[in-house]
Amino acid sequence: MKPSDGAVRMTHAVYPGSFDPPTNGHLDVIRRAAMIFGKLTVAVVVNPQKREPMFTLEEREAMLRECLQDLPNVGVDHFRGLLADYVRGVDADVIVKGLRVVSDFETEMSTALMNRSLSHVDTMFFVSDQKYSFVSSSIVKEVFFLGGDVAGIVPEPVLRLMEQKRTHLGR
Ligand code: PNS
Repeated sequence: MKPSDGAVRMTHAVYPGSFDPPTNGHLDVIRRAAMIFGKLTVAVVVNPQKREPMFTLEEREAMLRECLQDLPNVGVDHFRGLLADYVRGVDADVIVKGLRVVSDFETEMSTALMNRSLSHVDTMFFVSDQKYSFVSSSIVKEVFFLGGDVAGIVPEPVLRLMEQKRTHLGR
């Protein structure tokens, strides 16, 4: 938190991710974080490090906007390059991440330390709801495109777009 100049300032949190696609696990973290922070920006990374995204940046942002339209203090944005540069640029106070399983903590710990050393912005972790602890965007895509049912683990607008994509791809 930055020193106060007397005026009350809302805490601005940034929840970064690939959101390729957004899952109910992501939405659960967003909804819980939105109750705690005055302003929450969901920041979609333009090019995920790990792989070529299945959904375009525009699709990922549109899915998130549709899912989050009932939350007035939540915005959707995107960033390229370092998260540390982005959070400094938007004057964020805190980075939000979700932890599903203990092994997530190992990578998230070094990432949080690096981000704080680069930007002086701390990371706060939300422990995922147990019912989403096995849910990841990659598992959702694999199960869906192999014909499995993902209706309970992705929001309705996401399922709709995935079905369109499957039809388009002729799978
Ligand atoms: O949803 P993901 O794929 O787990 O999100 C990962 C993300 C986007 C949060 C992470 O890859 C990231 O911060 N990328 C930006 C590049 C960066 O800052 N790398 C250094 C991290 S210490």
